[in-house]
Amino acid sequence: MKVLVTGGLGFIGSHTVVELAKSNFEVIIADNLYNAKEEVLEKIEKITGKKFKLYKYDLCDKEKVEEIFRDNNIDAVIHFAGYKAVGESVKKPLMYYSNNLITAINILEVMEKFNVRKFIFSSSATVYGDNGHTKYVESMGRGKTTNPYGTTKAMIEKILEDLYASDNSWNITILRYFNPVGAHESGLIGEEPNGIPNNLMPYIMKVASGKLEKLNIFGNDYPTVDGTGVRDFIHVVDLAKGHVKALEKAPNGLNIYNLGSGKGVSVLELVNTFEKVNNIKINYQIVERRAGDLAEYYSDATKAYVELGWKTEKTVEDICRDSWNYEKNNKK
Ligand code: UFG
Repeated sequence: MKVLVTGGLGFIGSHTVVELAKSNFEVIIADNLYNAKEEVLEKIEKITGKKFKLYKYDLCDKEKVEEIFRDNNIDAVIHFAGYKAVGESVKKPLMYYSNNLITAINILEVMEKFNVRKFIFSSSATVYGDNGHTKYVESMGRGKTTNPYGTTKAMIEKILEDLYASDNSWNITILRYFNPVGAHESGLIGEEPNGIPNNLMPYIMKVASGKLEKLNIFGNDYPTVDGTGVRDFIHVVDLAKGHVKALEKAPNGLNIYNLGSGKGVSVLELVNTFEKVNNIKINYQIVERRAGDLAEYYSDATKAYVELGWKTEKTVEDICRDSWNYEKNNKK
């Protein structure tokens, strides 16, 4: 089976390409390198011992999308490409709506034209919004999103539902990720945020390597185990494997799955585990809560286990070890 992976050189995309190749899928990559580096291609080729065709195209250009489909006999698409920074999306909403929506619509229109009907969408737990629950289950439906990035995910989910309602020959899988962290155990690929990181694990990495002085922990007065925020951190390799399972096992039709560990871990627990596993002290201070943050949420990951035979295998210790291993290998 030939799979087009959009955003295939990004954090989750690159790990997914590796797992797809390991499972003998033929992979074509499209990535405009907006938030990824071309050298990632060599690294995934090194890990897998395989070569990949890369289209450095902006998928907002429908002609370019058509060209990829004309050149290759594509059977399925895994769509990662998109802008993903929550804070930036609040400042530049039009940029987020235009890029994320146009790209998705272009791909779906071209798929329709070429009669390719298998689509996997990279969505997010953020679509549950602030719904008064801490454990998110797929049957809850979408809540009110709190930023334009999250709204693009919710809107694309809705577009996919409408598309499927209009033509149920589509096979669409929506995967809602919780908090992807960690890195490939080879230390060759991992997360490379631009500038000062917004997310917790990349920030811990910069403090551990001495590039930033201290971590700000946003609030310790939440109603959680130790007062700090609680999230469901999922190792990116487990997450990548979830995509392979979705391709192989998702039933026909439109299906939605949470991809998470099913367990909540607090910010302080993550910091303490990182310190213990890697024997490094992380300087931190408690500061004000960050606007828009929820106290606690994690996945109910039962559906993915029952229907896809997928569950996370890696621990929080693995996450901390692999993240640091990547950071050490890629010190600039
Ligand atoms: N945190 C800190 N200090 C930091 C960064 C984060 O204390 O410097 C805390 C946050 O307050 C939160 C937790 O660490 O409690 C996790 O924060 P992240 O920024 O790492 O992740 P979020 O849970 O805010 O958001 C992530 C992704 C979004 C996605 C969402 C899905 O970044 O893209 O999960 O639920 F939409």
